Amino acid sequence: MPTAKHILDPPFNIVRSSHVSLGVTDLGRARAFYEETLGLHVEDVSKDAIYLRGVEERQHHSLVLSKQPEPNAGHLGFKVAGDEELDKAAHFFRAKGLDHTFAEVEYQGRTLRALDPSGMPIELYFKMEKRERLLQNYEHYKGAQPQRLDHFNVFAPNVQGTMNFYLSLGFRLTEYAQEDGPVGRIAAAWLHRKGNVHDLALTNGRGPRLHHLAYWVPGPLNIIHLCDVMATTGYLANLERGPGRHGISNAFFLYVRCPDGHRCEFYTSDYQTMDPDHEPIRWSLTDPRRQTLWGQPAPRSWFEEGSPFGGTPSRAALFEAAVAVAD
Ligand SMILES: [Fe+2]
Repeated sequence: MPTAKHILDPPFNIVRSSHVSLGVTDLGRARAFYEETLGLHVEDVSKDAIYLRGVEERQHHSLVLSKQPEPNAGHLGFKVAGDEELDKAAHFFRAKGLDHTFAEVEYQGRTLRALDPSGMPIELYFKMEKRERLLQNYEHYKGAQPQRLDHFNVFAPNVQGTMNFYLSLGFRLTEYAQEDGPVGRIAAAWLHRKGNVHDLALTNGRGPRLHHLAYWVPGPLNIIHLCDVMATTGYLANLERGPGRHGISNAFFLYVRCPDGHRCEFYTSDYQTMDPDHEPIRWSLTDPRRQTLWGQPAPRSWFEEGSPFGGTPSRAALFEAAVAVAD
């Protein structure tokens, strides 16, 4: 198996995926979609940005929508286990010759911004301002009732190389999709820090680009309700894939596209993975249950369209994965 052993004493301690910023061209239109339709809670608004979170999250934000001339994605945010971990991370990036710089970021304080070896912008922080938990403030429940950010998925032009980098940071592989045969290449990988299926997934394709961000929801009925709402409020064309159940992760899912084209997943019912000897699951690229347990392949847009990271050029994948496409 072309994978590395779990590293249980990483060079610095990332706790989980935490937040992301998306560049949008019309803040009012974006707010209507993310707040009123999807159901995220608006925590703060400035002239150029809207800060949102799920009802379970005590941190100030897990999504920042910022006004930009073109849609793009910003840094993928990860929380670390303590302020000293930021210094350890800076030492690590310096030793690897990777771009990194400290910044003071509104609401989240001292933040280390860096580029991973693929050029993907990530940011690490420890202290974000706290807000009241809204989990039992049921009057705030709207849309799909998103509870918390669960993961990011990114297009990676070199899945094996990017996977090896995050494995070296202590991310652990839970599932992967691989070509058949003795030298089958990995076309997708699911990596976690927090103890469920993933914080970060890698999908073979032109990148780095953000494929999607995913919010955890209470159950499948919340996802079906969102389908009903979107289908009757002018967002029918924004329903891209699902609802369905993934083979990989076992999660019930739905993918939607926002008015600027960013892809959001609503996700529930995966499983826990925190045992240090947890074994990853291999999927053949030819198994139709991999994408959707019930056999339906994903549409072509799902394999080809993603959000560029601002200022980061993307490049073609090292190989073309032979995936089933629904057209
Ligand atoms: Fe996902």
